[in-house]
Amino acid sequence: MSEQRTEACAALMRQARAIVDANGTGEAALEQLKGLLVGLANRGEALFPPGDFAMPDAQGRNHILAVEDNDGMGLYLTIGLPGKEAAPHDHGIWCVNAAISGREVNKFYRLTDGASRDRYSAIEEIGEAMVEPGQGMAMTDHTIHATEVLGDVPAIGLALYGYALARFPAVVWYHSEFASARACVSRRAEAA
Ligand SMILES: [Fe+2]
Repeated sequence: MSEQRTEACAALMRQARAIVDANGTGEAALEQLKGLLVGLANRGEALFPPGDFAMPDAQGRNHILAVEDNDGMGLYLTIGLPGKEAAPHDHGIWCVNAAISGREVNKFYRLTDGASRDRYSAIEEIGEAMVEPGQGMAMTDHTIHATEVLGDVPAIGLALYGYALARFPAVVWYHSEFASARACVSRRAEAA
């Protein structure tokens, strides 16, 4: 990893930590974090040359850029190949994204019924955001989103998560066609 990139990522983590410590992780703080991440992503391929990051064999791949000690935040370079889709899901932890190249559309949902019957979960689409160069996106702890990489070039971007991916909580996937939800196993216990 280039020294310049290591320094830039470490600087971002210090600034992000200062924001979170001062302002928490509510929507206003996440907007500030998004601004930071867009600034870093805007340095583009000069700082993040594609040749330094192996492409996915299929779908998507993440490369670690920086992870805080003590169960802190994780910063990643994410690559999604054209056509990669993810069904509606909730990470259980906040996240901000910014694009270096390519385009990924995010659709957002709200849970309209998550408790009336066992395993029944109904969601409703409430909006969308395009993550493309110059644009970022912020999601709070329980935002439900679905993604699709548009166009014919990979979507390459930066993602800052409240936890490192290796210590992620259970991701919940929603299947609106079946009005069901399925939770993946949390990585937090085994990574403790
Ligand atoms: Fe996601």
